[in-house]
Amino acid sequence: MFFKNLKLINFKGYENASVSFHPELNCIVGSNGAGKTNLMDALYYSCFTKSYFSNSDQFVVKENTDFFRIECNLKAEDKEHSIVIKAPNVSRKVLELNHVEIIKRTDFIGQFPAVMIAPDDNQIILGSSDLRRKFMSACIGQYIPKYLEVLLPYQKLVRQRNAALKEFRKKGRTDETLLAVLDEQMISLGVLLFNHRKEFIKAFKPIFSKVHSNLVHNAEQVAIEYQTQLDVHSMENGLKVNKKKDLVTARSNFGPHKDDLDFLINGQPLKAVGSQGQQKSFLVSLKIAQYEIIKEKTRKLPFLFLDDLFDKFDETRVIKLIELIQQGSFGQVFITDTHEDRIDSLLKLHNLEHQLIIVDKGKIEYGNKG
Ligand SMILES: Nc1ncnc2c1ncn2[C@@H]1O[C@H](COP(=O)(O)OP(=O)(O)OP(=O)(O)O)[C@@H](O)[C@H]1O
Ligand SMILES: [Mg+2]
Repeated sequence: MFFKNLKLINFKGYENASVSFHPELNCIVGSNGAGKTNLMDALYYSCFTKSYFSNSDQFVVKENTDFFRIECNLKAEDKEHSIVIKAPNVSRKVLELNHVEIIKRTDFIGQFPAVMIAPDDNQIILGSSDLRRKFMSACIGQYIPKYLEVLLPYQKLVRQRNAALKEFRKKGRTDETLLAVLDEQMISLGVLLFNHRKEFIKAFKPIFSKVHSNLVHNAEQVAIEYQTQLDVHSMENGLKVNKKKDLVTARSNFGPHKDDLDFLINGQPLKAVGSQGQQKSFLVSLKIAQYEIIKEKTRKLPFLFLDDLFDKFDETRVIKLIELIQQGSFGQVFITDTHEDRIDSLLKLHNLEHQLIIVDKGKIEYGNKG
């Protein structure tokens, strides 16, 4: 599976740009602010119909314009595919796969799986629990397409239930019938969500341990624990037990929307005791394990996007990564780096064929084919 080319109109800093890719390894180089991450994000966008970096298309469309377009051609399992994303305005977006409009995003996601490793990802360790839930979804959603068909309605339901609870509190009267209807739907979707996540963690843990011990030689003990209220109460019971609290706080206090992941190093919370290097290793292991689980479950080689490679990988690890690329462990790989010479000479030294893509303020040029 590989991207053959990409055409952008009014995508972030790119007014009108075309680029073609090497089927295996592409290095996008240029100075700070040149548009390296944006180019990679356009590819990510083509797989997920959204940006990795911003939830709103308001920041995707080029400043002072009101539409954008992404067009790319891929080859997957010996078939040619075309993806077109047209946003005639920021609030409307059309996705076409092979010239046929795809109405449901959930029908599309997972067809072209991808994993991104970017500098801000350390927030998965340091930030709030929703980023860890998002990480779980970014794994499961790419190999169980039905997962998003559970997650998205569940999230909508929680918002509806919270709005209803607020309304009850404001009026000083609870509509028991409405609450019972909402709870019934919460129970069925919540249980499905919980089961998917439980299964995921079970499969993910050994993959993660293996990846981490391969990456870190003086192997610290690392672990991931799934924290969920559903270990204590069933969905049905949990809603009952929390009913009073929900009505007082006007929030839904029970359910898988409260799930979290504990990251541990030698039995202690990684966020509190891990050094920056240990946190980086943990993060890279999480992402490579994400790659591995999607690969195992889908039998596809996801795209690997490594934004600002040297932020997360020191030179020894880059060499390890090069070995893995040489062994064919990954599908098409995209790397960004500010130092053209650093990455180019390293890859040439290891005889790794690659395409150098030089970007500068919305312009794209090619460097030497290595
Ligand atoms: N919606 C937008 N409209 C116009 N320009 C934008 C938009 N979004 C981002 N940019 C521009 O894109 C540039 C940043 O591009 P990008 O993040 O890809 O840089 P980069 O090459 O990855 O830099 P770094 O090495 O610092 O990570 C900024 O100059 C920013 O102004
Ligand atoms: Mg960048």
